[in-house]
This record gives sequence, C-alpha cells and structure tokens, in this order.
Amino acid sequence: MESSTIAIQDLHSSGENAIQQAAQLLLDEFQVLAPDAWQTWDDALKEVQASLQPDRISRVAIAHGRVVGWSGGIHQYSHAWELHPLVVKASHQRQGLGRRLVADLEAQVSDRGGLTLYVGSDDETGLTSLAQQDLYPNPLEHLATLQNLHSHPYTFYPHCRIQG
Ligand SMILES: CC(C)(COP(=O)(O)OP(=O)(O)OC[C@H]1O[C@@H](n2cnc3c(N)ncnc32)[C@H](O)[C@@H]1OP(=O)(O)O)[C@@H](O)C(=O)NCCC(=O)NCCS
Repeated sequence: MESSTIAIQDLHSSGENAIQQAAQLLLDEFQVLAPDAWQTWDDALKEVQASLQPDRISRVAIAHGRVVGWSGGIHQYSHAWELHPLVVKASHQRQGLGRRLVADLEAQVSDRGGLTLYVGSDDETGLTSLAQQDLYPNPLEHLATLQNLHSHPYTFYPHCRIQG
C-alpha cells in the first residue's frame, strides 16, 4: 500500500480499538528485536495506556481503519524527547511509513518547544556485533567497529532526515 494514503493522528482520539491494535503491534513486531520486552497482553496494553498520559505524545498510522504504525514521545530533560516506541506492522514495513512516523513526531516535538529527539535501542538477540560482548573498558572502540549482522533497526535512523 502507498504510504502517503495512510493518515497519522493522535492515539487518544482514535478510540479503544486503536489502543488494542497498538498493543498487538508491540507484541507482534518486537519478537525479533526484544522478545521479552512485553511478554503478555496486559504488559503491552499498559505500555499503550501509559503513552496516553498528558505529558506524552502518542501517534498512530491508520490504514483502512486499522492501526499499522505507532510512535511515541516521552519528555525528558529541558528540551529533549525520547522516541519510544516506534513500530510499523510487518506488512507495511519498507514503504516509508517508519520515516513518516519519525518526521511526524519531530513536528509534534517541535510544536511543544522541543529541540532534540533521541532514541535508544537494545540488542538482546544477537542482531549486531555488540551483542554479548564485554564493552568495557573501551566501549567507543566497539562502537567504532559496529556491524549490523541481522537487520537491527539502528541502521533505519540515518535514513530519517529533519524536514525543512
Ligand atoms: C524500524 C521500523 C520502524 C522501520 O519502519 P519502516 O516503515 O520499515 O521504515 P521505512 O520504510 O520508512 O524505511 C526508511 C529507510 O530505512 C531503511 N530501513 C528500514 N528498516 C531498516 C533496517 N532494519 N535496517 C536497515 N535499513 C532499514 C529502508 O530501507 C528505507 O531506506 P530508503 O531511504 O533507502 O528507502 C520497522 O522495521 C519496525 O517497526 N521494526 C520492528 C520494531 C522496531 O525495531 N522498532 C524500532 C526500535 S528502536
């Protein structure tokens, strides 16, 4: 499906079904990257509900009435926001939707006076050369030789460029 036909909107005005569909996305799409992050339906639902707090940003991508992507922002420090989470349904990946969700979140953060959007990502399943390594005492040496072995999402982020 063409990514531009998909609307991105606030989750809090998208209804209970959208909340449940966002929770299902977490359970389905983090199996490879972080299989233990949300082990039960309740864990996933709590994560989505937490994103609806007034100091958070929670945005969903809707295609034909169903949630196919979800992005969130958590206010940290004075002018910085953490991107958490970011997920696109497998059937809609590699079509530009992840990049659109990040650009949309950047605009939302900017509207709130934010200057920085940052992201952290784990490697619990051996997707990169950093997995199961003792990174100390020289963690930056390991970082300098970082390799993406099995499509870890960190190489997605350089494809996102601030618009305008
Ligand atoms: C990471 C994720 C959000 C990317 O969403 P997406 O819709 O597939 O991304 P896009 O189609 O917008 O990709 C934009 C660019 O990044 C590239 N890209 C996407 N995922 C990539 C990956 N895992 N590794 C390398 N490049 C990637 C695309 O090829 C595209 O390249 P282009 O600019 O040459 O066209 C999606 O794969 C996902 O939800 N994964 C599971 C959950 C996850 O890992 N979330 C991130 C946690 S940090």
